[in-house]
Amino acid sequence: MATVSEAQAKDETTAAGGAGTARSAELFERAQGLLPGGVNSPVRAMRSIGREHPVFIERGEGCELVDVDGNRYVDWVCSWGPLILGHAHPAVVEAVRAAAARGTSYGAPTEGEVELAAEISARFGSVEMVRMTSSGTEASMSALRLARAATGRDVVVKFAGAYHGHVDGLLAEAGSGLATQGIPASPGVTAAQARDTIVVPWNDDEALSLALHDNEIAAIIAEPLPANMGVVPPEPGFLEALRAAADEHGALLILDEVISGFRVARGGAQELYGVRADLTVMGKVLGGGLPAAAYGGRRELMERVAPAGDVYQAGTLSGNPLAVAAGLATLRELDAAAYERLGELTDRLAAGLREAADERPVSVVSAPGLVTPFFRPEPPSDFAGAAACDLDAYARFARALLERGVYPPASQFEAWFVSLAHDEAAIDRTCEAAAEAFALAFEG
Ligand SMILES: Cc1ncc(COP(=O)(O)O)c(C=O)c1O
Repeated sequence: MATVSEAQAKDETTAAGGAGTARSAELFERAQGLLPGGVNSPVRAMRSIGREHPVFIERGEGCELVDVDGNRYVDWVCSWGPLILGHAHPAVVEAVRAAAARGTSYGAPTEGEVELAAEISARFGSVEMVRMTSSGTEASMSALRLARAATGRDVVVKFAGAYHGHVDGLLAEAGSGLATQGIPASPGVTAAQARDTIVVPWNDDEALSLALHDNEIAAIIAEPLPANMGVVPPEPGFLEALRAAADEHGALLILDEVISGFRVARGGAQELYGVRADLTVMGKVLGGGLPAAAYGGRRELMERVAPAGDVYQAGTLSGNPLAVAAGLATLRELDAAAYERLGELTDRLAAGLREAADERPVSVVSAPGLVTPFFRPEPPSDFAGAAACDLDAYARFARALLERGVYPPASQFEAWFVSLAHDEAAIDRTCEAAAEAFALAFEG
């Protein structure tokens, strides 16, 4: 329940960017002298949509963000996925408050970690044991180490346009052609790390077969429902092909469900598509907005992880009691009715955006809890297709939405995250703003 001061503050806020953004501009100016690019994670700077500065957030309430100038926005970023219940959900706030009162970290085991591991295992049939980490990056990096240890092989296959965190070897992007040897996508990635990564186009069975035929592969790592090039679902049979290829070549299949896990279905994309991973990477919703992630899989694989086994991996704040409390509180809200509701809200947003785009060359793709309006007439099936979108038009669209009190991802290559705090009114408001924003985007 909102306190009196929160309610008063609410009255002083304005929808549709009406209050200007002077304070955000001022803060960004200062931040640029102190933080690289003024932010702690690149996309937040909003550079790719050509904003002079991002908006600095003062607080979140349900499905809304309020910036430091008092503007109110319908939030379609939701912290890039964790906030499936929206901002400051009472059950999460209370769980974190209660946990904090008992101490913020012990560096020793707690009951909550066991409960959370059991909850994960109950949702993911392929996950018998888990190891928690603080970020998805750490979880995917550690899953790769385990896969390499288990197979005694070095090379991994990843898909162009997939993101698994800023793990050195996984920043490699595709070159042209079929399976292309990775090249460093960022300075600082060693040639050796890049050589151990083969990048294959998503949804391309043939390129995958070639990559596996020509190399001794430790693991295929994939987002089973890619959302980091916008939402580009697997074509029918592609995930089955991944599973079969991994089995045939003695490689492990690592499914990165950092976005899809706990979101697209109770048991993530593995439940949605009926595919089974050897190792699963999880994060975002798992920590309910606090830093928590995990990797898990079959018992005999996970028992290679120290101290049960010889594959070293550790973390000062892994399984942090606040993060565990937030994660458990979040997962407890996510029952069958919640997933049904999330599906309804997603469908309404996708349909509303389609209608708002009208005849313009936009294709709206969705999966439960995820939506992407691609600025191209047909939905893409891989990263090359996503990259061919009209990025300038998306930038104009996103800027126009911000000015109308809607906070979209500041990139064509990110999903819009639907939460259970969104409602029909917020969606309809978004779609009204989108109709104007689409018109402006295509005016040039
Ligand atoms: C699919 C996927 N895997 C891994 C990560 C990395 O997670 P984190 O940002 O917590 O390191 C992300 C982050 O967006 C992601 O989307």
